[in-house]
Amino acid sequence: MKLVGIYGASGHGREVMGMLAKRPSADIAFVFIDDNAVQKTVNNRPCLDWDSFLAAPTQSKETVLAIGDGRARERLAAKCKAAGIGFMPAHAQSAVILEEVELGEGSVLCPFSMVTSNVIIGRQFHANYYSQVSHDCVIGDFVTLAPGARCNGNVVIEDRAYIGSGAILRQGKPGDPLVIGEGAVVGMGAVVTKSVPAGITVVGNPARPLEKK
Ligand SMILES: CC(C)(COP(=O)(O)OP(=O)(O)OC[C@H]1O[C@@H](n2cnc3c(N)ncnc32)[C@H](O)[C@@H]1OP(=O)(O)O)[C@@H](O)C(=O)NCCC(=O)NCCS
Repeated sequence: MKLVGIYGASGHGREVMGMLAKRPSADIAFVFIDDNAVQKTVNNRPCLDWDSFLAAPTQSKETVLAIGDGRARERLAAKCKAAGIGFMPAHAQSAVILEEVELGEGSVLCPFSMVTSNVIIGRQFHANYYSQVSHDCVIGDFVTLAPGARCNGNVVIEDRAYIGSGAILRQGKPGDPLVIGEGAVVGMGAVVTKSVPAGITVVGNPARPLEKK
């Protein structure tokens, strides 16, 4: 028996649990892990704090980091690694992966998400429901696509970038990709027509840097 901890019991965590629990397996028991676990159960499933998860008698343990924020996933991934706990890929039955796709450890592909052909993706990638990565994209570590985000072909998304719900990234060209820089945030609904520098938040159509008043 393997014990799999869905790390995070908020909205996204409950969705990931619901997606995995749709395919019950006699060999896997799912629990939530919540660092501030005040409730003993969430959606009628056990909710453990980290120490209790580590102390559980099951020998084989893995986690799924079900948290939308890439930097939080990065911290938790380091914590799991230090404890010798690996990561279970969490792929919905309806998620589509076509040919020549490299996916790093800990990927979460939610229902109706799609990664097409000749795509390289780093660690702890999250594709929320109805999001898409098309041909010849290169995606870094800890990248998040929110629901319905569309990443067209020949796009590079660097580490820790966040693509908001319903955003659309224009396709790049072979050898001249559109680049979303390290840690950049693309706001929900943005239409990105040009590369976005690292650390910048862009919104709107066409997407422009968000100016705070
Ligand atoms: C872009 C974003 C990161 C900005 O968040 P923020 O820094 O907290 O910004 P604020 O909410 O303070 O908004 C600042 C201004 O930008 C506007 N704004 C915020 N998000 C916007 C967006 N996506 N498109 C256009 N304008 C936006 C606000 O209306 C506000 O305008 P105002 O100053 O005229 O009132 C955020 O709004 C966003 O789009 N996040 C992604 C959400 C998402 O996809 N969630 C998925 C959950 S699974």
